[in-house]
Amino acid sequence: MRTPIIAGNWKMHKTVGEAVETCRKLEEVVTDSPVEVVVCAPFTSLSALSALGMEKVQLGAQNMFYADQGAYTGEISGQMLVDTGCSYVILGHSERREIFGEDDELINKKVLKALELGLRPILCVGETLSQRKAGETEEVVVSQTAKALSGVAAEQLPQVVIAYEPIWAIGTGENSTPEDANRVIGLIRSKLAELYDGELAGQVRIQYGGSVKPENIAGFMQQPEIDGALVGGASLAVEDFAAIIDYQR
Ligand code: PGA
Repeated sequence: MRTPIIAGNWKMHKTVGEAVETCRKLEEVVTDSPVEVVVCAPFTSLSALSALGMEKVQLGAQNMFYADQGAYTGEISGQMLVDTGCSYVILGHSERREIFGEDDELINKKVLKALELGLRPILCVGETLSQRKAGETEEVVVSQTAKALSGVAAEQLPQVVIAYEPIWAIGTGENSTPEDANRVIGLIRSKLAELYDGELAGQVRIQYGGSVKPENIAGFMQQPEIDGALVGGASLAVEDFAAIIDYQR
């Protein structure tokens, strides 16, 4: 059985004070549930959030660089994230790929470094609207997955979380249907089975992301292949994110 994982991606939102207030409230309102909860906050808030000593919420970052240290002005290393108490790091988010020009090769280096440090990557894959219209969804997500995981050892694979995020559904209010997300996630899992084996592929948690809200989370979670969600906009307000986490109630 895969433990569901629901992660909030705050993107470039919240000052340290706002982040602390949000997580304090979240710890109060989230019920003890079998769902693993992660908040991926901006770098500036991570130390303060870690100092809260949260029990129900784990910490994640939204990016990192692959080098250990050195002359990389403006970058943050994986070790720095471990040092601030992060357990997870989002890698290859479509905004990093599209706005900051990250390619599969760079994302692969980051995935390998994160795993080496014991940080669990939340690897994002997903197609654009034009790729979807051209019938290329499968090819795109399967290729992004395989390239990002190149060199990942079998014993490391279960540490990886994959987030299938169709780009046309991110921040648009336009969500994929649960059935279609389930189908694409099934294709990703089949690729993992081909690259590794069926048993390992069955251990990897694969989330859906893209306009997930309190009103639509249950539909996604009912699907057999979907193991959680990566939530952007709706993770910023405590009430909404808590309702998503407590989707079974
Ligand atoms: P959204 O973002 O929930 O606001 O669509 C999801 C994401 O980018 O991870």
